[in-house]
Amino acid sequence: MSNVYRPTWAEINLDHLWHNFEEAQNQNLTKKVIPVIKANAYGHGAIEVMKHLYDQGVRYCAVSLLEEALELRAHFDDIDILMLGPVMENDILVCSLNHIEFTIYDYHVYESVLKFKHSMICHLKVDTGMSRYGFKDVEQISHVVSDLQKQKHVELKGIFTHFATADQDETFFQKQLEQMRLILSNLKKIPPVVHVSNSSSTFKYESKIEFTTHVRLGISLYGLSLDEKKPNIKPVMTLKSKIVQIKELNEGECVGYGATYCATEKQRVAILPIGYADGWIRKNRTGHVQIHNKKFKIVGTICMDACFIQVDETVNVNDTAILFGDLISIDDVAKRLNTINYEVVTQISYRVPRIMIKGDKKND
Ligand SMILES: Cc1ncc(COP(=O)(O)O)c(C=O)c1O
Repeated sequence: MSNVYRPTWAEINLDHLWHNFEEAQNQNLTKKVIPVIKANAYGHGAIEVMKHLYDQGVRYCAVSLLEEALELRAHFDDIDILMLGPVMENDILVCSLNHIEFTIYDYHVYESVLKFKHSMICHLKVDTGMSRYGFKDVEQISHVVSDLQKQKHVELKGIFTHFATADQDETFFQKQLEQMRLILSNLKKIPPVVHVSNSSSTFKYESKIEFTTHVRLGISLYGLSLDEKKPNIKPVMTLKSKIVQIKELNEGECVGYGATYCATEKQRVAILPIGYADGWIRKNRTGHVQIHNKKFKIVGTICMDACFIQVDETVNVNDTAILFGDLISIDDVAKRLNTINYEVVTQISYRVPRIMIKGDKKND
């Protein structure tokens, strides 16, 4: 029996997910793709996404938080899980006991690692220009790498950096790449796993990078990109909700909190059971939704659990509205909200059930 009751859901197309993974893999046949499934797989459902990738043979993934890593470990005992975010000294033991690969990004984390004797698998993160996590000083990096390689309890499996502008500024990107080259050339022994690319760099530059073994694929695994020239990928998430009531408004009658929208003539307004607590934030009030291949205007103020759509005679109770994922894309919504596609999908909240689909199966 299903435990999904509400008529609002996000469809996650697993065939598209795998298509996107393969596109990245086929561009870079000698490199391995590490799917980035932090933040609940960018809102798509981390366990289900990993399960599908696992069934296709994938055995590596990356997350940000230890909580995310442990949730995955509880479901998959034979995959490698890399934690990209910060680790607290008290949690190093938890990583070690659960075989979570963690990131050493600063001297104090390195010193913490030396206090333990439990076996642990680590990656060193270097900062090549983004000024976020990572060691910066080339000599210090050499010293820390060679010291970690001498420690019996530490497996220094990888070294990596992260790009700030792969999707926009090639000059800055190349500067970071050069800095990574310099850092690696200064090492006596390079760790076996070297990874630098995010989605944008995976598609645009990775095939010309000679020193890496893996890429970290985030947003484009979900069929999205910030690049002007989009790779051949397919969006994975479609957000849907069913009309649960239709109001026939007379001229002068208003809808919603603040009575911000009032009918200027006889009008039909449909109520969709999705609101800002679902991540369908109030700023969406200027947009449209799709019903029967046609766009209809959102009117009034978006409530916590509902919003209002101005509809015509063709629309009925129980009809499905597509909030994004077809005529209205995730990028259209990002533009409407003056943000990026990453934020649109990650903000769809836990209250919206994720329904996994394969092929063209539609759940309405
Ligand atoms: C360290 C690191 N690697 C890889 C990624 C994936 O980036 P993208 O989603 O642009 O592919 C992220 C995402 O923020 C990240 O922080």
